[in-house]
Amino acid sequence: MDDVSTLVTGGAGFLGSHLCDRLVAAGHDVLCIDNFYTGSRRNVAHLLGKPNFELQRHDVTFPLYVEVDRIFNLACPASPVHYQYDPVQTTKTSVHGAINMLGLAKRVKARMLQASTSEVYGDPDVKPQREDYWGRVNPIGIRSCYDEGKRCAETLMFDYHRQHALEIKVVRIFNTYGPRMHPNDGRVVSNFIVQALKGEEITIYGEGTQTRSFCYVDDLIEGMLRMMESPADFVGPVNIGNPGEFTMLELAELVLRLTGSRSKLTFRPLPADDPKQRCPDIGLAAERLGWAPTVSLEDGLKPTIAYFKSVLGA
Ligand SMILES: NC(=O)c1ccc[n+]([C@@H]2O[C@H](COP(=O)([O-])OP(=O)(O)OC[C@H]3O[C@@H](n4cnc5c(N)ncnc54)[C@H](O)[C@@H]3O)[C@@H](O)[C@H]2O)c1
Repeated sequence: MDDVSTLVTGGAGFLGSHLCDRLVAAGHDVLCIDNFYTGSRRNVAHLLGKPNFELQRHDVTFPLYVEVDRIFNLACPASPVHYQYDPVQTTKTSVHGAINMLGLAKRVKARMLQASTSEVYGDPDVKPQREDYWGRVNPIGIRSCYDEGKRCAETLMFDYHRQHALEIKVVRIFNTYGPRMHPNDGRVVSNFIVQALKGEEITIYGEGTQTRSFCYVDDLIEGMLRMMESPADFVGPVNIGNPGEFTMLELAELVLRLTGSRSKLTFRPLPADDPKQRCPDIGLAAERLGWAPTVSLEDGLKPTIAYFKSVLGA
């Protein structure tokens, strides 16, 4: 992989920083761009001295002129608290960001991978979700800026592919967790761990029987890298996630056990548009990428808890 020049947008975020780690270690020339909306220099500080890593402040809603071979487009706030804070900007980041990065890919003939999401399936009426399921998405709700922005970005990817023969790769990412998640991002794994470590009550929405699947970050990044280097005729979309399902109550109990916390559980009403179930069918990733997750929830939670301990000084 020597001499491959790779752009990572949103590279100072949770997933982006882990991706930069892997690419730098593999010898790519990595250009990481970020507007630091939810990401932070801290996440990539350890890479700053490396000769094959460069960090640049840039907002993907503006055009970028660089020479690269590969583009991983991850820029976009991913957690509801962050993407709902400025929903118009969220849609712009997904849509204008995709247009700008696709324009760049077309100019320099780069291959581009879009970090899409299981949210394109909305509140699904089939389970598990396969890539050929078109989704059940509310176009006017409070999550729509994210869901519809990501759907439109997928549309743009496929239109650039059909219209301009651009090499594209679309990955639909399911819930992923691990070190460098934002402690205040309101997502369930970080919420539970932070509450447990602080000895606060653990907030469960609804009755806690809704299920989620959780993918450890190392597994996810491996899937993204395999997708980027897969044969050009395989464009996706491909689900990357962990199909193991846990209820919110099961997750809370595991976090309590691993942190040794005595926090109590507290129950609140479900937020609007909260999907009741989300679980990937990863048959396509297994078949085309030879990929499957390898890290159990318990094994992934341990380093995640250790990270939050260091951040919180707990
Ligand atoms: N983490 C997950 O479980 C998950 C699930 C599905 C999809 N994704 C997708 O993966 C990508 C990365 O998610 P993450 O969990 O690392 O979130 P994150 O918020 O940690 O990372 C997003 C990064 O993008 C940057 N960013 C936001 N708007 C930008 C803009 N206009 N210009 C430049 N940079 C901008 C942020 O500062 C941040 O560094 C996102 O596109 C997200 O939609 C993540």
